[in-house]
Amino acid sequence: MAGKYKVPRGTYDILPTESYKWQYVINVFNEVARLFNYKQIVTPIFETSDLFERSVGDTSDIVQKEMYKFQDKKGRSFALRPEGTAPVVRAFVENSLGIPDTSTKLSYHGPMFRYDRPQKGRYRQFYQYGIENIGRDDVATDAEVIAFAHTFFSKLGLKEIRLEINSLGNDNSSEAYDKALVEFFEPKLEEMCGDCQKRIVKNPKRLLDCKVKTCKAIAVDAPSMLDYLDDECQKEFNDLKAYLDDMKVPYVVNPKIVRGLDYYTKTAFEFINENLGAQSAICGGGRYNSLVGQLGGKETPGIGFAGGFERLLLSMESENLSFGDTPKPDTFLVAVGEKAKAKAMGILGQLWSNGISAESALNKESMKAQMKAAGKSGCKFTLLLGDDELAKNSIAVKNMETSEQITVSLDELVTELKR
Ligand code: HAM
Repeated sequence: MAGKYKVPRGTYDILPTESYKWQYVINVFNEVARLFNYKQIVTPIFETSDLFERSVGDTSDIVQKEMYKFQDKKGRSFALRPEGTAPVVRAFVENSLGIPDTSTKLSYHGPMFRYDRPQKGRYRQFYQYGIENIGRDDVATDAEVIAFAHTFFSKLGLKEIRLEINSLGNDNSSEAYDKALVEFFEPKLEEMCGDCQKRIVKNPKRLLDCKVKTCKAIAVDAPSMLDYLDDECQKEFNDLKAYLDDMKVPYVVNPKIVRGLDYYTKTAFEFINENLGAQSAICGGGRYNSLVGQLGGKETPGIGFAGGFERLLLSMESENLSFGDTPKPDTFLVAVGEKAKAKAMGILGQLWSNGISAESALNKESMKAQMKAAGKSGCKFTLLLGDDELAKNSIAVKNMETSEQITVSLDELVTELKR
């Protein structure tokens, strides 16, 4: 029966039949965070809107079109967070999380919000996992951050994904490249979309990222960033490739990766899964050496990435990967008769407090109905308590797989089950 209210467009409920998959993926993510020594950080889901305008950038689609912006009762402007990097960097600066001579390694996951046209793999509320490594500007750190993502996807069993890397250069190379792009695009600007015509002034690299067909066709022949890297950036990019080779992390170089957010410098990367169709990026990230300074902190370099859980789950489903077992109770207590029912809660309480999961259907009178519920629950053991068992202070334990049944003393039940 459909009710009166519907979930908002572009959002969805994670139902019990799906939630264990999320739990599984989050557990693997947390395990990889432990391996790489990243500590979790949790920030609010809304921030002052200028935090994102400053950092993600006012030429980005996110700020121009996709922010859930609102005013609170005092007229202050806030936004539901469209991404996690700016809030994490805000928290890093506000709480002085910097560690001298090394970096602060933070992981996070939670809902993000972007007002975009919903489609497969693109939602208005979506869940990101991500990491930020703030404090170091060496290529080994870039390699570590990429290896984190690679390890995470490998642990989940994903095979049909491709790592693409690029260097967006430092300020020097970036400026030279922007100049070359302006020279290339300017004569063709009339054929390009309104957004590109505006962006060429503030951020010419975004013209490489435009999804409009005519713009895309023009951008095919645009100059390559890699030809404009200065010696330092070129060396760093080569070192990064060597590190990835050493770690046996496969990649391809894609000089067209510019990323949709304004804060990136030098290393940029994405993991792509072509099976997903238009929304094929399962994660993306890169270096942001000016962001901490821009947000009022002491100039500190950083690098990180984030990905959407939804696209990850779709990728895993497309490769028929396992999400572990659906959770089932260890035991199901069947209690028949007044006296047995009176004792039932005490037994369940003992099981729960001893770490044994237990289910029951004490609302049902007959043994048949309770046994049916036990069968449906998928439990490993059914515990049968009736007058006969009670008289002997015992309980029958039926192994649901083998149908073997034994009787044990109630005092021994927990020990017996743990065995
Ligand atoms: P992003 O590329 O905007 O980067 O988003 C990262 C990932 O989030 C995407 O690759 C995609 O998997 C997922 N995603 C983005 N938008 C949606 C959506 N509407 N629906 C479903 N999934 C989506 C960032 O957010 C940066 N903060 C990443 C980063 C961290 N860079 C450095 N540190």
